[in-house]
Amino acid sequence: MTKVGIDKIGLYIPKYYVEMTELAQERGIEPEKLTIGIGQDRMAVPTIREDIVTMGANAARQILSEEDKQQIDQIIFATESGFDFSKSAATYIHELLGIQPFAKSYEIKQACYGATAGLQSACDYVRLRPERKVLVIASDIAKYGLNTPGEPTQGAGAVALLVSANPRVLALALESVSYTDNQYDFWRPSYSPVALVDGKFSTELYQQCFTKVLNQVPLTTQQQLSAMVFHLPFSKMGKKALEAYAAVASEQLEETLSNWQANYADSILLGREVGNIYTGSLYLSLISLLWHTQTLSAGDQIGLFSYGSGAVAECLVGELQPTFRAQIQQTQLEALLSRRVKLTIAEYEAVFSQVLSTDGDTLELSDIYEPDGVVLARLDAHRRYYQ
Ligand code: HMG
Repeated sequence: MTKVGIDKIGLYIPKYYVEMTELAQERGIEPEKLTIGIGQDRMAVPTIREDIVTMGANAARQILSEEDKQQIDQIIFATESGFDFSKSAATYIHELLGIQPFAKSYEIKQACYGATAGLQSACDYVRLRPERKVLVIASDIAKYGLNTPGEPTQGAGAVALLVSANPRVLALALESVSYTDNQYDFWRPSYSPVALVDGKFSTELYQQCFTKVLNQVPLTTQQQLSAMVFHLPFSKMGKKALEAYAAVASEQLEETLSNWQANYADSILLGREVGNIYTGSLYLSLISLLWHTQTLSAGDQIGLFSYGSGAVAECLVGELQPTFRAQIQQTQLEALLSRRVKLTIAEYEAVFSQVLSTDGDTLELSDIYEPDGVVLARLDAHRRYYQ
């Protein structure tokens, strides 16, 4: 069967961030609670001119060639930070990136699991039409509110995945294990600008879902996995899930689990810098691992644990392709990180509290905090215009 999977990966993170130690000081928390207990160093802060469309377009435009734009049949936009109940964010992306007109564009949602559903659907489409491509975009803004327990686990960013036959980064296996459990661990009613969360319960449910899913993955498949990457709401979460699973896993997995633990450190480095980017978070962990690893090589298999509150989880298996290092280097991650500018906590609070007007009046947007790439330029008659 033709290999299908991730051919190119693009990433966008906002230009502005806050330092966790400064947030801790301002909130009267011990800094180690955030840097060790939660495991976060910095948190990306989007400005008023950034939304899921600008971040998604910025992630995708760095990876697409003119040929890709002609071969893309679908744009699947995964998000839980949508600003419109009807029109999908994918329709803006279609225009902003100049994708061929006879493509379909739509949005999907299931908390942080959405991008994985999009990726699986994209792979199935390409397996049947190996000459075509699908663009999957994961873009989100994680918001819990100032001075809340969830505040240090906020973040923002977007990942773009180009799915094709004979992929250059990761070929995905047809078989996977998914799991659904209808729960209220984290949710956002349509009238609420911030997520509601039962924090402790959410971390327990995440661990239970990981163990339940892994228990269904054949032992021989698990033994072939050199690493496991996680959806990371904060970097300690995957570690907790690994430890919970290790406590009940078969003795035959001892060596496998120690390999996963050894590779875990590389997979969390980008997440520690950016925070939770919700549905793109698992793929941020993947980028982080592939960017930093000194030990993984082509042919190695890795597991991807996707988790979206509510709750849906899935474990995918991917095989690293010979060109994965060269492809990841094209993402220019160093430049993306080094361009960032720190906000004081007072500046962050001011940026956080800004809201777009909802009266339908014309509003030309400008800001002292100037993001880069595609930005939201104007609101007019309840419509958004980008430049
Ligand atoms: P909290 O109550 O602020 O923190 O909530 P805590 O008291 O549980 O402490 C956190 C850790 O810091 C603990 O470690 C403490 O011991 C440690 P643990 O016992 O868990 O290993 N600690 C210290 N360590 C070192 N030095 C110190 C110190 N003090 C304490 N001085 C919580 C934390 C994560 C619950 C909160 O931030 C929250 O509610 N976050 C949002 C929810 C969340 O991220 N849940 C994760 C699972 S759900 C998920 O992944 C889905 C999601 O991405 C949404 C989606 O799917 O769309 C969220």
